Amino acid sequence: MISPNDFIQELIINKSPTSQVLGIGGSPRKGGNSDILLQYIIKGVTENEINAASLHLRDFDYQGCLGCEMCRKDKICTRLKDGMSLIYPQIIKSRGLVLVCPTHNYNITAWMKAFIDRLYCFYDFDNSRPRGWSSRLAGQGRKAVLAAICEQENTEDMGFTLDAMRLPLTALGFEIIGELPVFSIFDKAKVKGEKTILDEATKLGSSLAESLQS
Ligand SMILES: Cc1cc2nc3c(=O)[nH]c(=O)nc-3n(C[C@H](O)[C@H](O)[C@H](O)COP(=O)(O)O)c2cc1C
Repeated sequence: MISPNDFIQELIINKSPTSQVLGIGGSPRKGGNSDILLQYIIKGVTENEINAASLHLRDFDYQGCLGCEMCRKDKICTRLKDGMSLIYPQIIKSRGLVLVCPTHNYNITAWMKAFIDRLYCFYDFDNSRPRGWSSRLAGQGRKAVLAAICEQENTEDMGFTLDAMRLPLTALGFEIIGELPVFSIFDKAKVKGEKTILDEATKLGSSLAESLQS
């Protein structure tokens, strides 16, 4: 049987992501607001005849990046063999990406932060200081949409949540097609009763799907 690392290497060499979408939820709360938003975004994707799958980071055991730099040579994280080994192939082969995350202390959750840090293995660096860099995920027509949800009413209270997803994804070579910030929702699954927000989430998914069709 092919090992996960060989499988990942094969996908990297193959280098052509397909027009499918991977949705990733960053909330530790099962059945909570982010889960529902993700579900509606994915609905918008699939209604437009684009295949989609989704996962929740809380269901995977993985660590943050150790900065060991083994990925400089191996082109994927080979130091840690953990839940990310299951997620990497899905990222590599999906041209569309959806990230949904609640605000925790003005920022993304620890799960989402560790996940994004583990995408460090997709960078190539040169030997200057500071190092010049490029992303092996760039130039492949990759597109993403983002959603964030928080309890408070103002952009300031959502803090860096959207920035903390947008900046790294843009650096990795994703074009951000749209973003949905959702305010004033605290209770578990409360967003389920907010038709306007759910419609916006579906629309966001549709716009991602349309961008992948062109
Ligand atoms: C540890 C923690 C930190 C939070 N920090 C913030 C915050 O800084 N600003 C805010 O508006 N809401 C904050 N919230 C509220 C959540 O963002 C809000 O309840 C959200 O709807 C949770 O989404 P979920 O059900 O997908 O987990 C925090 C919640 C938790 C558990």
